[in-house]
Amino acid sequence: MTEHKKLKIAIIGAGVGIGHARGIAELPHLYDIAVICDINTERAASVAKEFPGARVEADMQAVLDDPDIDIVSMCLPPHMHYQAIIDGLAAGKHVMGEKPLVTSLADVDRVEDALAKASTRLFPVFQYRFGPGYRKLMHLIESGLLGKAYTATLETHWRREAAYYATPWRGTWAGECGGVIVSHAIHIHDLMAHALGGVKRVAAFLQTRCNPIETEDCAAVSLETGSGALVTSSMTLGAAEDMSRMRFCFENATIQSDLEPYTISQGNWTFVAKTPELQREIDAACAAVDDGYSRYAGLYEAVHRALHGEDVPLLGDIAAARHAMELITAIYDSQRNERIVSLPLDGAHSLYRGWVPETASPARAASH
Ligand SMILES: NC(=O)c1ccc[n+]([C@@H]2O[C@H](COP(=O)([O-])OP(=O)(O)OC[C@H]3O[C@@H](n4cnc5c(N)ncnc54)[C@H](O)[C@@H]3O)[C@@H](O)[C@H]2O)c1
Repeated sequence: MTEHKKLKIAIIGAGVGIGHARGIAELPHLYDIAVICDINTERAASVAKEFPGARVEADMQAVLDDPDIDIVSMCLPPHMHYQAIIDGLAAGKHVMGEKPLVTSLADVDRVEDALAKASTRLFPVFQYRFGPGYRKLMHLIESGLLGKAYTATLETHWRREAAYYATPWRGTWAGECGGVIVSHAIHIHDLMAHALGGVKRVAAFLQTRCNPIETEDCAAVSLETGSGALVTSSMTLGAAEDMSRMRFCFENATIQSDLEPYTISQGNWTFVAKTPELQREIDAACAAVDDGYSRYAGLYEAVHRALHGEDVPLLGDIAAARHAMELITAIYDSQRNERIVSLPLDGAHSLYRGWVPETASPARAASH
């Protein structure tokens, strides 16, 4: 690959795939959107018309067989992720893997084995890491200005009702492979774990209270992190409006994120220091941080740099995805067995082969 090669990218799955494509379209110097692929070709066509030069495909294998495609973004329902990633790597493509990357620790380990043999790379989709507010938080942590991390609270208070669950795979064990902890809070948990040194111990309560679905839609989780900070995470899909929030209390400052659920890393963060002197230092440090690209554009810009040999610390890797899978596994273990669960988890864990109950009905995994 030459140093500044533009990459030809195919989007597989035209739901959230349009969000990927719009982010990529902010980077015309780095990518050409070559294909929008969906078995629902009408849906693919309605997305493709926004991106001149993109062709529509119905057959994912035809895209994987196309030697012109450098990178594929797998935007498929969760139960399809594992095989799609394996097929993408086997075809010699770089692969973007939507969340949840896969749905068991065993599958994550198999993906790691496949990656070890592959000549291409896998990038888990953690686009929430890219936003000016979160970039400032990470810069302040790395600079040591914040001191010890004491506590944090996370809120994922969203509203999901019948229209959302009309997509057949949602709300099912076999299709979505989990509820609010797998689908909706995975990003805020990744941001917290990335900022606070990973999760060490977990205690969780989960319930299905808001919707007639199989999976949990309310959760209260307590966490101890690698930094020592204690975290509480409150989740519901029954809120009156969509709101996400992260609030961190450090030794030297209290920091609160934006409240917008999809742009929590951007916009209106507050950084309140304990003294005027510290405030001046923190403000100056924040002012020095380049806002960069946000969300999907930030992710894909980082991926392009990584593929050209740069180390991009904000970019999530397979280890970050494994940690996210471990946290989900630990939360279900804590809930089901009424115990505090310590991470990391290995092949001996009782839910290593998956947290989806064996009674899950495969028929309900149908996508469209
Ligand atoms: N990163 C984020 O913030 C974010 C946001 C929303 C969804 N997601 C994730 O993205 C994934 C997709 O979610 P969605 O809401 O777009 O779902 P969706 O059901 O709306 O879209 C998935 C699409 O995949 C297509 N598809 C199914 N099988 C296919 C195949 N064999 N070949 C080609 N296309 C096929 C379906 O026809 C459908 O259009 C899920 O894993 C979800 O968790 C991530």
